[in-house]
Amino acid sequence: MKFLITAGPTREPIDPVRYISNRSSGKMGYAIAQAALEAGHEVVLVSGPVALNAPAGAQLVRVTTADEMYDAVHAHLAGVDIAVLCAAVADFKPASCAPRKIKKRDGVPTIKLVPTRDILASLGALRPKKFLLAGFAAETGDLEKNAREKLEKKQCDAVIANDVLAPGLGFESDENALTIFLPDQSSRVLPRASKHDLANALVKILCGMQQKS
Ligand code: PMT
Repeated sequence: MKFLITAGPTREPIDPVRYISNRSSGKMGYAIAQAALEAGHEVVLVSGPVALNAPAGAQLVRVTTADEMYDAVHAHLAGVDIAVLCAAVADFKPASCAPRKIKKRDGVPTIKLVPTRDILASLGALRPKKFLLAGFAAETGDLEKNAREKLEKKQCDAVIANDVLAPGLGFESDENALTIFLPDQSSRVLPRASKHDLANALVKILCGMQQKS
């Protein structure tokens, strides 16, 4: 099967030296790419800026901003069977990027933010639906309610939620704990484990779902 996986953060430029970003290291997304490759699948990995080597055999597409990630994902959809959007895409970006470094002597700047395009929702809205679509949900409270809301609004086949406030899990860590929420109201818990082991389990589950659909 062919996987398209997004990973890492995006960076939204404020001026030539500053940007808005987040703590995503890419570890979770890269682990899923590695697991899919080890299971014999083809992988396109669309990655924001991270300090990781791409797993051998993956087609790596490097991007920086949310707009670039959106365009790269849509440009690599041909033949995809399973899309897993694990990247921590910025929800907001500066309305414009200052052409030169904003100077401290000019005072504290007011930065107008505008929403980025939602990549996951844009894939969920595609018709006909040609691939299984799984999104992640990074939550700091009301995990099930928020994840189910994303599942429905973004028209996914699965939302994989993680509590990013739990110590040692979520962003940057080598371990995580996941709950997969499905449209039939069921859910499946993958308890605390290495991102590597969770990725292996996730790839198996998603392949099983794809084969049944
Ligand atoms: O990279 P690590 O350090 O290993 O950390 C892993 C992780 C915590 C980043 C990962 O497990 C995770 O939760 N990824 C999703 C992070 C996130 O942005 O979640 P969200 O709840 O804000 O977004 C929900 C979904 O919409 C995600 O699939 C996201 O990729 C997608 N999205 C969000 C905004 C946007 N403009 N476009 C999107 O596609």
